Amino acid sequence: MSNSFLEVAVEIAQSAGKILREEMQRPLTISHKREFDLVTQADRRSEAFIVGQLQKYFPEHAVAAEEGTGKETSSDYRWHIDPLDGTTNFAHSYPCFCVSMALAHKDELLLGVIYNPVYDELFTAARGEGAFFNGNRIHCSQVHALKDSLLCTGFPNHDRGSNPNFRYYWDFTLRSHGVRRDGSAALDLAFVAMGRFDGFWEFGLNPWDTAAGVVLVEEAGGTITDMQGQPYTLGGSSILATNGLIKEEMLKVVAEVSSQITHQ
Ligand code: IPD
Ligand code: CA
Ligand code: CA
Repeated sequence: MSNSFLEVAVEIAQSAGKILREEMQRPLTISHKREFDLVTQADRRSEAFIVGQLQKYFPEHAVAAEEGTGKETSSDYRWHIDPLDGTTNFAHSYPCFCVSMALAHKDELLLGVIYNPVYDELFTAARGEGAFFNGNRIHCSQVHALKDSLLCTGFPNHDRGSNPNFRYYWDFTLRSHGVRRDGSAALDLAFVAMGRFDGFWEFGLNPWDTAAGVVLVEEAGGTITDMQGQPYTLGGSSILATNGLIKEEMLKVVAEVSSQITHQ
């Protein structure tokens, strides 16, 4: 893979992060995509900047961006862009949000870049070349047992009443050191890649939420599957990211909880 793809993505993500920092200082302009599903001027400004830059550098590439301003082309290269992952956090000045960018060639994810502009934390990975945090190589944790793990999950902003996740949340909470709910799926995955979390799962995420984090976790030595342990596909109904060592234990818990839900 061309290094320049990654270099350009890093430059764009950091500049988009600067826009988010500026927007933090301004009065908030919130609108609702759906009830509880927020979008702010920061999402829109960041996306306009990223899409514009990608069109300048790679005019042939397709761009799929959350707020809908990307473009379809016939190229096999496709960018998956979340201009602001963690909008609800942003809207409440909770400093856990990021820019997330990934590039795929056909079905293969080539690179991922995740940038938290508040803490200036940059996560990068390119397929076959490892994962990095602020330029230093990172690996998933060495925690071997679920009972010693710190986990993370998330709850979507839409169809909140019908999401089954509270059941899994309950069980995993009782069997681990705890389960965090940080509100940015991209950062959650980046934290699995660097060992802050040992596992993460969520239902109903979109390609722009997960694409970059998937490359990071895999390049850091972790595993990415769906909640049944099958290969994960972007936009699939669930995702399970682990450090590899607690994967089987997590899948066992998922199977137990799933069968309790089914038999009710
Ligand atoms: C959301 C965050 C959150 C996850 C939601 C996503 P957004 O993305 O990643 O952690 O639980 O499902 O929609 O809307 O802040 O870009
Ligand atoms: Ca998102
Ligand atoms: Ca977003």
